[in-house]
Amino acid sequence: MIIAIDGPSGAGKSTVAKLLSKELGFEYIDTGAMYRALAYKAYNQGIEINESQIEEMLKTTHIDYHDNQIYLDGKNVENLIREEAISIATSKISALKVVREKMVELQRRIAANKNAVLEGRDIGTVVFPDADYKFFITAPVEERARRRYEQLKASNIEADYDSVLRDMKRRDQNDSTREYAPLKKAEDAILIDTSRMELKDVVKAITGYIGGNNVL
Ligand code: DC
Repeated sequence: MIIAIDGPSGAGKSTVAKLLSKELGFEYIDTGAMYRALAYKAYNQGIEINESQIEEMLKTTHIDYHDNQIYLDGKNVENLIREEAISIATSKISALKVVREKMVELQRRIAANKNAVLEGRDIGTVVFPDADYKFFITAPVEERARRRYEQLKASNIEADYDSVLRDMKRRDQNDSTREYAPLKKAEDAILIDTSRMELKDVVKAITGYIGGNNVL
């Protein structure tokens, strides 16, 4: 069984997808981490993010994902890919056709013959258009920025709300207007606005829905 969880940054997708996979005993697959790992490599090696340079880079790049961890060329980079500079580079690299083709193929291969919750932007539209269940998790950009700002503050990372909001709007714009696989709700996905719901209640609602108890 494949469960697709899509939506913009900061809507609570990761938390919901992780809790849901635990509850159901399914594999959790964070597709954003794959794009982030590629951006991390390009960023660290000073490789310019354009179609030809990245196509070249991909020839000698190996991405793997298992046990909730992302591996780049055999090294676990799970804790190295969440910085703001990498997020911005990821938004850029994930717009490239050559990158999308490779990652979609990899994601399908990793999830093949498994029960999995996949989290991303295009899972319900491109990667698994026939997913058993599709959810689109969102919240207004101001609310998502506020949550991200609180997270940064709680981790003692210096930040100001206005620049977090500006970056988030820029990322939304990049992700939803790109030519290939833009961020978009699949027609048959169920829309969940998390601005007035606790994330654990979102998970409850989803498991209820899957179990045939339609509360959404
Ligand atoms: O979910 P995240 O914040 O880790 O995603 C990082 C970036 O990767 C974000 O800019 C959107 C992009 N992404 C994508 O284009 N397609 C996916 N399936 C997952 C993430």
